[in-house]
Amino acid sequence: MQSLRDKVAELGADNVAAFFCEPIQGSGGVIVPPAGWLRAMRDTARELGILFVVDEVITGFGRTGPMFACDAEGVQPDLMTLAKGLTSGYVPMGATMLSEEVYATIADGAPAGAPIGHGATYSAHPVGAAVALDVLRLYQEGGVLANGQRVAPRFAAGLDALRAHPLVGDARHRGLLGALELVSDKATKRAFDPALGLPDRVFAAAWRNGIVFRCFGDGVLGFAPALTYTEAEFDQLFARLTRTLDDVLAEAEVRAALA
Ligand SMILES: Cc1ncc(COP(=O)(O)O)c(C=O)c1O
Repeated sequence: MQSLRDKVAELGADNVAAFFCEPIQGSGGVIVPPAGWLRAMRDTARELGILFVVDEVITGFGRTGPMFACDAEGVQPDLMTLAKGLTSGYVPMGATMLSEEVYATIADGAPAGAPIGHGATYSAHPVGAAVALDVLRLYQEGGVLANGQRVAPRFAAGLDALRAHPLVGDARHRGLLGALELVSDKATKRAFDPALGLPDRVFAAAWRNGIVFRCFGDGVLGFAPALTYTEAEFDQLFARLTRTLDDVLAEAEVRAALA
């Protein structure tokens, strides 16, 4: 919060229109902030008079438990970006939600006759919209959201158990979004030398073991299992993941790089 205040002061409050954030940084390494962070940042943005924009492209639609990560902290952003889970990825569709105030500013604030309506080439494409409507129904009536919430503790337990693995320095998760951070030194959490090509080694071993996940360049492995996962599928996921980590550990170059 203080660093946001300091940054706005440095730039000059009149030069800052908005603060953008993900409730949990996804492609940045699945960085799970402490509970209350999102609300505190929203309050700070409000105090500074700047818009609070939340990117829920990854965290939306039950990924972290509730429909939106914002819901967990009672946060109503001024704008929210959405995609992926909106159609469950079956067809492409993105969306931007606006607060009433932002909408009214755009809709009513233009000088008479000035065309400032905002749109995108494929706004409200009928195929995307039809799929999104059905997917939204399935989250609620189809029990998909509830299943994600039910199995999340199993996902958390599986990731946490892997903290004991010699390659793992950290496990992070919220709902069905999680990560393992691989380190060469469990005490100092030092990352592996990029020259070792660890992400490629992990991906190749995972592929051989019949499992696909995101291997970030800095040794973070990102997981976002389907909200429809069963307990048995988690057993399979963690058996394959453990085998994958053991296979990578069996590589002489990797063992040699360990502290
Ligand atoms: C959090 C987040 N926001 C935005 C995007 C990109 O969205 P778009 O491709 O619609 O610009 C991604 C892509 O993966 C993302 O993970």
